[in-house]
Amino acid sequence: MEKAKVRLLGLSLAHRKGRNTAWMVECALKAAEKFGRKVSDVAHVETEFIDLAQKKVEMCWECPDYPCRPRLGEGGYLSHDFGCPITEDYLAIKVMPRVAEADGFIFGCPVYNGTCTSQFMIVMERLRAGIWKGYFTNKPAGAVCTATMNLAGQESLLQQMNNVIRFLEMIPVAAGLGAVSIAGLPYGPLAGEDDGKTIGVKNDKYGQWQAVCVGRRVAEMAVMIGLAKQQLGQRYTEEFARYYAPPHGDDSWAWFNLDSEDEEYLMNLTPATFRG
Ligand SMILES: Cc1cc2nc3c(=O)[nH]c(=O)nc-3n(C[C@H](O)[C@H](O)[C@H](O)COP(=O)(O)O)c2cc1C
Repeated sequence: MEKAKVRLLGLSLAHRKGRNTAWMVECALKAAEKFGRKVSDVAHVETEFIDLAQKKVEMCWECPDYPCRPRLGEGGYLSHDFGCPITEDYLAIKVMPRVAEADGFIFGCPVYNGTCTSQFMIVMERLRAGIWKGYFTNKPAGAVCTATMNLAGQESLLQQMNNVIRFLEMIPVAAGLGAVSIAGLPYGPLAGEDDGKTIGVKNDKYGQWQAVCVGRRVAEMAVMIGLAKQQLGQRYTEEFARYYAPPHGDDSWAWFNLDSEDEEYLMNLTPATFRG
């Protein structure tokens, strides 16, 4: 059997470079690599980490006419790769090509005001352009987060991150909702005593354990999907419906229609004629 090549991309969407969120993402990626070594006879798992802290990323302005969207019957997709007309910023140059090639993702974000950072939303809104190409479809993704305090918005942040993951057609995977961690007391400094270097989550063993679960689950799923895609070959790209990037060419969303006998069956159903 040919080995599946699986590339996992970790993105840290905190505003501070190389701190608690970044560490949680790296922890998940290291767990993914460990799993990769276990299945190295069937898959080659590699990971990449990008810290988006302090990177200037332009917002999505929902351009008139959606240039990122394929034009059905009008020549299809934009020629440039990701489809987003903003092509000059860090996201477009450094991140989008890596996203397009990735087979699975770890997203890290700290809790800001009980929710995600502006960077998380800006990046995710811009990345949405790739949905029309199927760059997210059927790719597993896990969420890891951190906050200064306990019970300080981590769980609702993970729900929100998982919503975004779903809306981009990725497959959310984790043990539970994802990984929760605490950067402040008892593991790290009080908010007002931060020395700018300490990574409190290193001492949060539950946080670490959850990040390991997330990384491992993403890797497991990516390997399974990679092997399945390999087995399916062309059939995957030709037959498997990707809602935003339909497989049947530019001119047809016909997969959306049911077969006529099934359509007829459904239309003729009455309370007395259901199967069950
Ligand atoms: C604007 C802002 C809002 C924040 N909101 C919260 C919050 O709601 N709950 C919390 O526990 N920590 C909050 N924090 C603290 C961050 O979650 C914390 O510093 C975290 O460690 C940042 O991630 P990093 O260490 O990767 O930079 C906030 C920080 C900032 C700057």
